[in-house]
Amino acid sequence: MAQIDLQGKDVVSIRDFNRDEIDYILDTAQLMEPLSKAGSDILKRKIIGTLFFEPSTRTKLSFESAIKKLGGSSLGFAEPMVSSVKKGENLTDTIRVVENYVDAIVLRHPLEGSARLAAEVAIVPVINAGSGTEEHPTQALLDLYTIKRELGKIDGLTIAFLGDLRHGRTVHSLAYGLAQYDDVKLYLSSPSLLKMRREIVDDVSKNIDVIETDQLEPLIPKVDVLYVTRIQKERFPDIEEFEKVARSYEITLDTLRTAKRKMILMHPLPRITEIAHEVDFSPHAKYFKEVWYGMVVRMGLLALILGAIE
Ligand code: NCD
Repeated sequence: MAQIDLQGKDVVSIRDFNRDEIDYILDTAQLMEPLSKAGSDILKRKIIGTLFFEPSTRTKLSFESAIKKLGGSSLGFAEPMVSSVKKGENLTDTIRVVENYVDAIVLRHPLEGSARLAAEVAIVPVINAGSGTEEHPTQALLDLYTIKRELGKIDGLTIAFLGDLRHGRTVHSLAYGLAQYDDVKLYLSSPSLLKMRREIVDDVSKNIDVIETDQLEPLIPKVDVLYVTRIQKERFPDIEEFEKVARSYEITLDTLRTAKRKMILMHPLPRITEIAHEVDFSPHAKYFKEVWYGMVVRMGLLALILGAIE
């Protein structure tokens, strides 16, 4: 394998990485697992800016935990209205200022194209922590890592996405990520208003089999991974449109009765009503385990981007 060097690289889209690079990040994440307990100082004196223009629990806290576990520090905001954004400062000016203080920027922003714009402006690497409905590449990395750690491989698996595939950015990035692997079969199941955008389906179909369906039940015995997402209420231009699809699906223990023994049930969280709480204790449920995988993936990614390990 050619020498892979990710130092200084922006992480705007999962499509910026080829399969070898993705596998390298996932392998590095595994090296981080013992460090997540023991701690390390490989990011000593590194400062990472976390700029969150949209709400976040997991992504922001897992980046901050990853930074601290590796001996680095972070600064930033989770509430842009306490920063100069409230005074009307635009994103590019904010980036041009913050890059003076930090070695890398983690950015979440409601607009599509925001992360790409920030990466073009910034001298330091920019990591996209969610750009509108577009992409969420570090979530895709942690989703891929979860699949690999739980099922031992990604090649050859049958995977179904269920939910708001139109507005959900995690499923867009994950679909592109899965398309890098061999013989993956991807089922897309959603209410018809919430289908995945055509251009993404067309792109991903060039590499893997993609089958759209509105039937969930026949899929359950076939899949190795069921990936459920919430309906992204805040992305609907009209609340009445949301009401039409709200609560249109829910996974219960009964839904899973025909599942393969090793089938894993994933969700990027937050979960609202789409997975019943009774499922949390099922051996299929991996969504809280994903939270931990997410932290080690972000440890590995930061270490590589900041050149802390080779
Ligand atoms: C997701 C997001 O922000 O896109 N959350 C996350 O980062 N785990 C999913 C969501 O909000 O539904």
